[in-house]
Amino acid sequence: MKKNIAVLPGDGIGPEVTAQAVRVLKTIAKKFNHEFEFKEGLVGAAAIDKTGDPLPDETLELCKSSDAILFGSIGDPKYDNDPKAKIRPEQGLLKLRKSLGLFANIRPIMVFDSLKNKSPLKNEILDNVDFVVFRELTGGIYFGEHSRPTKTSARDVSEYTKEEIERIAILAFDSAKARKSVGLKGKVTVVDKANVLETSRLWRETIQEFSKGYTEIEVEFMYVDNAAMQIIRNPKNFDVILTENMFGDILTDEASMIAGSLGVLPSASVGNGISLFEPIHGSYPQAAGKNIANPIGAILSAAMLLGIAFKLEKESQAIYKAVKKTLEEGYGTIDINSTNPISTEEIANEISENLS
Ligand code: IPM
Ligand code: MN
Repeated sequence: MKKNIAVLPGDGIGPEVTAQAVRVLKTIAKKFNHEFEFKEGLVGAAAIDKTGDPLPDETLELCKSSDAILFGSIGDPKYDNDPKAKIRPEQGLLKLRKSLGLFANIRPIMVFDSLKNKSPLKNEILDNVDFVVFRELTGGIYFGEHSRPTKTSARDVSEYTKEEIERIAILAFDSAKARKSVGLKGKVTVVDKANVLETSRLWRETIQEFSKGYTEIEVEFMYVDNAAMQIIRNPKNFDVILTENMFGDILTDEASMIAGSLGVLPSASVGNGISLFEPIHGSYPQAAGKNIANPIGAILSAAMLLGIAFKLEKESQAIYKAVKKTLEEGYGTIDINSTNPISTEEIANEISENLS
């Protein structure tokens, strides 16, 4: 198979972890006889520094002409500490998601047995945890009007339409159906704040109607404050979580503690056309350039890329297995192995070796 992959390393630890994911993809190409061509594009603070634009046209064009996008991370303390900055790195990612129509962000929450004791949660809470979050990605408060009506007041508007809710619901319910067929629960938990927000009431109304087409799927509605608590109290209760943009952002950072480290979780952003794959961690600027960041989130994002964008299921599984084996052998970057840590590059070496 011959494919073009756009690589957008971005900021902070993005370039380091993405380089390792690319390396693993090259190992896969060799082993399974594929031809992957990688082309890099600028995004985020790195792009602002060079071009003044967090998403230069050239980068968007590169993405549109590729078969899949591998994304690193975005954000820089220079902007975090300057609330008045008009141009911000994050705008690059948000514009990319919107321009490419990436309306669903899929974040699987998995537990590697060998990382169980890295989680701040008790071991018995982690048994049999396996769920996936479908986070709406191009609507809600992220994309409503942001304004400052006066010097001392601010507004962020959250809006949703029935169509925006339905198109991600299809993906979430189909996923629940597929999960049920392999012996998992087959349940969708819709997380909202319908006791307060009108947009949430539209989500409930829409899903109540929509779910009539999926009689075999159990549907549950949960307020986001309760969901935040249940994810810690009894995470095995979840199967598929379906939620709006900001709730999904917050809940998945929380859920990453189930996996032991934010550094190991991947995600896929999908829509009607091209898909983008990125670790759920941010740019972690404190670790940038130190060769200590965990590349596993990026490497597993590459595995999702192979499975979802190229339908290369065997190759995708090979990466998961190599990661699992490497973790079982006790290797880890400092976030998961504080007593005897190895570097970003070294753990990627081990993973590549376990692959070939
Ligand atoms: C994420 C990130 C982004 C988001 C930021 C960098 C804009 O936190 O992908 O989860 O909030 O969506
Ligand atoms: Mn986030």
